[in-house]
Amino acid sequence: MDSRWDQSKKESNWHFDDVFKKNKQYTEVCTFVGSWSELSEHYTALTEDSKWTKKRSKNGGPAEQGAVNDLINAGANPDITLFSRVEVDKDCIFYKASIELGLEDAHVFFQTQHSGSMIHMHVDRHGTIGREDTGAIPLRRFLVMLEDWTPGHTVLLGNQYWIWRKGQCITWDKNVPHGTANFSYSSRPMLQITGYETEKTRQLLTNCGYQNFISI
Ligand SMILES: [Fe+2]
Repeated sequence: MDSRWDQSKKESNWHFDDVFKKNKQYTEVCTFVGSWSELSEHYTALTEDSKWTKKRSKNGGPAEQGAVNDLINAGANPDITLFSRVEVDKDCIFYKASIELGLEDAHVFFQTQHSGSMIHMHVDRHGTIGREDTGAIPLRRFLVMLEDWTPGHTVLLGNQYWIWRKGQCITWDKNVPHGTANFSYSSRPMLQITGYETEKTRQLLTNCGYQNFISI
């Protein structure tokens, strides 16, 4: 039976040595500073639930049957809500974060994970976001947390958990498997930003860290 996870393990160059390799699995990029609680409320109301059973390929077929199979084989509910999300408008301050990161043609999603939702371990498949695949696509994904971490908010990259403060932003090598869950009593809003790197992005990543405060 088709398995997305098995296929990802073949395609990824991550070591899959779950216990012994403790090197950093993600890069701390910067801290965004701003006032976005009203905007978060606005977008929370617009989100739609994401599920593997709802995902479709570009040609309309069931693209993620392998992921559904993986959940069934694991004894999990294949119809579980992974998270809830909506793409943000290009003229709002959430989109401005992608510009500060130096990304071109970025897609910025407001994504919240309500208590009880989870996405199992997976490796991202970015596609090309509207550009021709040249074989060396400098496509990169960032996460920006919109509220402080609270116990039960869970983000695992490779074999390392991320604990954050509001506004903190990370990125990671696209080969690193990851998953998220929320078993707290509050939702966990964040931005998922994906776009093409530019020189500005590379400069930022050369001198990165949470001590870089960027106002949006
Ligand atoms: Fe992912």
